Amino acid sequence: MTPTVLPMTGNVGAEIINADVRNDEHWPIIRQAFIEHSVITIRAQDITPDDHIAFAQRWGDINVNRFFTPLDTHPNIAVVLKNPEDTSAIGEMWHTDHSYDTAPAMCSILHAIDLPPYGGDTCFSSQYAAYDALSDSMKTFLGGLNAWHSSRHAFGAATTDHEQYQGGRLHNAEKATQDALHPVVITHPLSGRKAVYVNPDFTTHIEGLAKEESKALLSFLFAHCQNPDFQCRVRWQEGDITMWDNRALWHKAINDYAGHRRYMHRITVEGCALSA
Ligand code: SIN
Repeated sequence: MTPTVLPMTGNVGAEIINADVRNDEHWPIIRQAFIEHSVITIRAQDITPDDHIAFAQRWGDINVNRFFTPLDTHPNIAVVLKNPEDTSAIGEMWHTDHSYDTAPAMCSILHAIDLPPYGGDTCFSSQYAAYDALSDSMKTFLGGLNAWHSSRHAFGAATTDHEQYQGGRLHNAEKATQDALHPVVITHPLSGRKAVYVNPDFTTHIEGLAKEESKALLSFLFAHCQNPDFQCRVRWQEGDITMWDNRALWHKAINDYAGHRRYMHRITVEGCALSA
């Protein structure tokens, strides 16, 4: 069977059916769909953790997340878990994976192992579309700015009383020492398109602005960048792989399945330093 790529919206996202991530002949189609749509959901992948790793390595070296507790047998795979008794979901605030690193992960590859009977979708927002919708004057202003991103407030020592640390879903709080400065608008290293690159979870302030100026500008951008017109929503089925481009998107795990378990495996792939 030949894979079929079905766009989810006019701005972002595609579903791919009849594909197998292990199949060399399907690889160019999957790669092209990822470049064009920024997030792809490859349906029904009956694969092992080793297959997941091999698929990730087609894209580049694996970047092991320091804070997510790994799979016992495969330290390269991060577990994304919510138990029936947990109240919080990992990644439930809009964010970009690893923006606190100087060379943020280029993509994340999530495999759905065990899903709740309803809910637990993941939303994505295109930061290409967010940039394109800004006025020319705002684009020029933002083009000269850089912003700081940090892991400290999200994963550091002050957060270890949180359920996700207490329940063992996160670890290594002492490794939350990263702050990174990135352009507020980046030029995507693969597509050459401009994208807004600040996010509500990890961006702390804009360099060179007064505290209140930075707060007001980030608050405008955080509201602007989550316009539903820029979004798509992945409704998971067991076995699906969704992979997304961290330089072009925000994402958010929807926490609407209280009392049920959701269990995923995630691999992040190395990226590079970003420029304006
Ligand atoms: C994440 O933020 O990487 C997790 C997304 C999800 O669980 O849907």
